[in-house]
Amino acid sequence: MQLRVVTDQPWDVKADVLVIPIVGEAAFDGPLGELDRRMGGELRSLATFGELRSKRFTSSIAAPGELAARRVLTLSAGEADALDRETVLHVGAAAQHRLGGRHARSMAIWLSPLADVLAGGADAVAELVARGVVEGTFDPKTLYRDRDDLKTAPPELDELTLIAPDGDAGTLTRAAERGVIIGEGANHARSLSNRSANDVSPEVLAEEARAVAEQHGLWIDVIEPDRARELGMGMFLAVGQGSDNPPRMIVMRSGGEGERDTLDRHLAIVGKGVCFDSGGISIKPADRMEEMKMDKIGACTVIAAIGTVARLAPGTPLLAVAPAVENMPGSHSTRPGDVVKALNGKWVDITNTDAEGRLILGDAMTYAERLGATHIVDVATLTGAVSRAFGHLITGAFGTPQPWYDSVMAAADRAAERYWQIPLLDDYVPDMESWYGDLQNSGSAEGSLIKSGLFLREFRTVPWAHLDIGGSGYFRKTTPFAPRGATGVTHATLVELALAGAKG
Ligand code: BES
Ligand code: ZN
Ligand code: MN
Repeated sequence: MQLRVVTDQPWDVKADVLVIPIVGEAAFDGPLGELDRRMGGELRSLATFGELRSKRFTSSIAAPGELAARRVLTLSAGEADALDRETVLHVGAAAQHRLGGRHARSMAIWLSPLADVLAGGADAVAELVARGVVEGTFDPKTLYRDRDDLKTAPPELDELTLIAPDGDAGTLTRAAERGVIIGEGANHARSLSNRSANDVSPEVLAEEARAVAEQHGLWIDVIEPDRARELGMGMFLAVGQGSDNPPRMIVMRSGGEGERDTLDRHLAIVGKGVCFDSGGISIKPADRMEEMKMDKIGACTVIAAIGTVARLAPGTPLLAVAPAVENMPGSHSTRPGDVVKALNGKWVDITNTDAEGRLILGDAMTYAERLGATHIVDVATLTGAVSRAFGHLITGAFGTPQPWYDSVMAAADRAAERYWQIPLLDDYVPDMESWYGDLQNSGSAEGSLIKSGLFLREFRTVPWAHLDIGGSGYFRKTTPFAPRGATGVTHATLVELALAGAKG
């Protein structure tokens, strides 16, 4: 896709589709009035008809009248006082998602209505809209289709033009290019995540990671079961042992071993890579079990994120650890009540084999610290409880100490991603104590979301944040800005967090 930034007026820009964002009630003084005049009053008539309501992401397609563009897409961005970075990102995605399947090869988006309201102005809008458009092109339906089928599909977007009459084309272009790269990284995470478990085994995920490493000159080490046993990764192996597809601990690094970034951190991003979560012997009910091919989103996200950081700021110190397993029932599987020794020496009583994410993440975090990590963020589809609490639009987050959590959230703001903090309440720790070991991996259902965080907390000693994407990691149905399937959420947060410590 060709990216173009122009400082022309929107009526002069040639494109198959001109996107006009509507913020609040459409006001026809100023450039919107000029657009309306050149469209022969069409915009005003749409407004009177009730078509330009400020309900977020409602859209209409109109004829262009005398405009240089061939069609007009109005897209509501909601009320001005509610216009935040995430909405701007989703406006870009919604424009592209709305046009998916139409014969539109070039799209031009008028940034001014958004730039006039959003803090950060046109530069911020250019980055977010460009990223949104790229994310809006994501279509999981093209994953498993015969080639002939793809040939008859409508053309993809060849050209995106951002229109900012008052902006500086140079800085706007750099901002938009950054947005495109972050959007492409998110889509990479999403396409890996959406692939099914008969396609992506732990070894296939490792191959995908090797491809990323090769492309960007990253160091990679894939730990197979024999070495994991020598190292003592008892929790990781306990989850992987029930499957014929053996587990892989995927470790990638940019920068040097233990190297500190400009914030004196050796940041590690750790992602849950359960290629399929049947629950193991504590088997899940059949209803929606097919969604558990998505239980590797965390791993796919950290693999994509380290690639994105390498594109934007090569050499930035960053460690990515992705424990990849298949959680299956069988005669080799871990049984409820099995007691295993974790890499950090703690004895863990596996009371529920379906609480497997915390087991593999625990060993992965210990290993990250062995490799010099001074700060850790993990990403995981860890609980169903988080999606019951927050739904699909907010990621539940934990962290300690609070200043580290706050700096992760500062990156989240830049990334236009939404989180909500869950307390790590010490009072629930006794519920995780075990008769036979140091702790058990699952307690009673009360406060189970908090307990998942309390368990993980035992397996790191450095500042740590945990992002539970059990709800936000994938959509069960399409929205105006994204299709069903993996959302790519947290990718941008991880990238921004790592880049905060990049040189230059
Ligand atoms: N991968 C699941 C969590 C999940 C479920 C994510 C549904 C998204 C949608 C995880 O491994 C799991 O099974 N968690 C259990 C934990 C429980 C056994 C303590 C859960 O949430 O029920
Ligand atoms: Zn799981
Ligand atoms: Mn599970």
